[in-house]
Amino acid sequence: MIKLAPSILAADFWALGEQIRTIEEAGVPYLHIDVMDGSYVPSISFGSPLITSIRKNSKLVFDVHLMVEEPIRMIKEFKEAGADIITVQAEACTHLHRTISYIKELGLKAGVSLNPSTSLSVLDYIMDDLDMVLIMSVNPGYGGQAFIPSTLQKIRDLKEKALKAGVSFDIEVDGGITRDNVDEVLKAGANVIVSGTAVFRGDIVDNVNKYKQAFDRIKKEIEDIHGK
Ligand code: DX5
Ligand code: ZN
Repeated sequence: MIKLAPSILAADFWALGEQIRTIEEAGVPYLHIDVMDGSYVPSISFGSPLITSIRKNSKLVFDVHLMVEEPIRMIKEFKEAGADIITVQAEACTHLHRTISYIKELGLKAGVSLNPSTSLSVLDYIMDDLDMVLIMSVNPGYGGQAFIPSTLQKIRDLKEKALKAGVSFDIEVDGGITRDNVDEVLKAGANVIVSGTAVFRGDIVDNVNKYKQAFDRIKKEIEDIHGK
């Protein structure tokens, strides 16, 4: 199933609660929450207190993307705050397998994110344990950047790799996605679409509906390429 995961990094923080309610009422399944520590990536976004606060008022699946050094130190904190899925940057973990195992041990879904220059081979011996792989289509750190075109081949390669290994996980893509390139991203094999600017800039409901229409339009074509 194709899922939209709006990234609150692009929301208006003054109206954050209202905007989250708007996307929830528009029928979006996931909320993508970008945590940045100012060290792994240059900027700082927000931390677990924000998640605790929105968790009280939202039933969305909280898809927490940790762009932090050694995220293993903070996984329990983010679980307690209300995360459902925790995705870590492979490059930020000294012990990636241990980090994933810990996320799963705590009863959460585990994702691994790869920067544009990181090879898929880092997944070779951990694929069985993953619920999601996040392919970064920009260098992490900021919203509103342009989609890096070589990502499309990387998504195709990942899809093929999973098929060959007989494993299945969600393929999420993050950065620079708009309604103009989302078809290509889905056709390449992604099924979870992160979108910040293209959801929160302008009319949110209209933006979400247009994504949903694009998903419906492309569904049949995708089934022909990748099966149901
Ligand atoms: C980038 C973040 C993204 C970002 C996406 O470091 O991980 O989730 O918010 O924003 P857009 O859709 O504006 O590129
Ligand atoms: Zn993200």
